[in-house]
Amino acid sequence: MSATAHEHDAGHAPDHGKRDFLKLVAASGAAVGVGAIAWPLIDSMNPSSDVLAISSAEFDIGSIPAGQGITVVWRGKPVFVRHRTAEEIKTAASVKPGDLLDPATDASRVKAGHEQWLVVLGICTHLGCIPLGNKTTDARGDFGGYFCPCHGSQYDVSGRVRHGPAPANLPVPPYAFLSDNRIKIG
Ligand code: FES
Repeated sequence: MSATAHEHDAGHAPDHGKRDFLKLVAASGAAVGVGAIAWPLIDSMNPSSDVLAISSAEFDIGSIPAGQGITVVWRGKPVFVRHRTAEEIKTAASVKPGDLLDPATDASRVKAGHEQWLVVLGICTHLGCIPLGNKTTDARGDFGGYFCPCHGSQYDVSGRVRHGPAPANLPVPPYAFLSDNRIKIG
């Protein structure tokens, strides 16, 4: 997000009102505001299409409030980055893999030491719709993660499918933490 503030400042007189508003939006956890700020920044970071297929991309995620998520674009695909609450982490870890449609532990789907972050492809494994769930005001289904409105599939806060017709969990893309607040996908 610092890049966004910098861009706003470049070539213009300081606009403290706007900056204060941005801080207020981030602090209030207003999902719409966070999304609206994130998209232009992400779009400007996208490489040209000729290098898209081989590229990786870095994203600052530190301003995402707990309980919220954003969508970033990697190789032309939506990727959900979700800042999970302590309660959500506890709930996700307590699920027995054997009870799941596509068995997987929560630990196998997040990075050790960064369990508050879930990073998954935002593409329903049924027929490819983009599920809802980034915003606290979104329908998240009965398991608190993501809900696909196309045919009703539900995913939990680990991105694991809990109710079909989707047959599989949301895939975890290759990614790494460059710092506590910055990830590199790809
Ligand atoms: S595409 Fe998601 S439920 Fe059908």
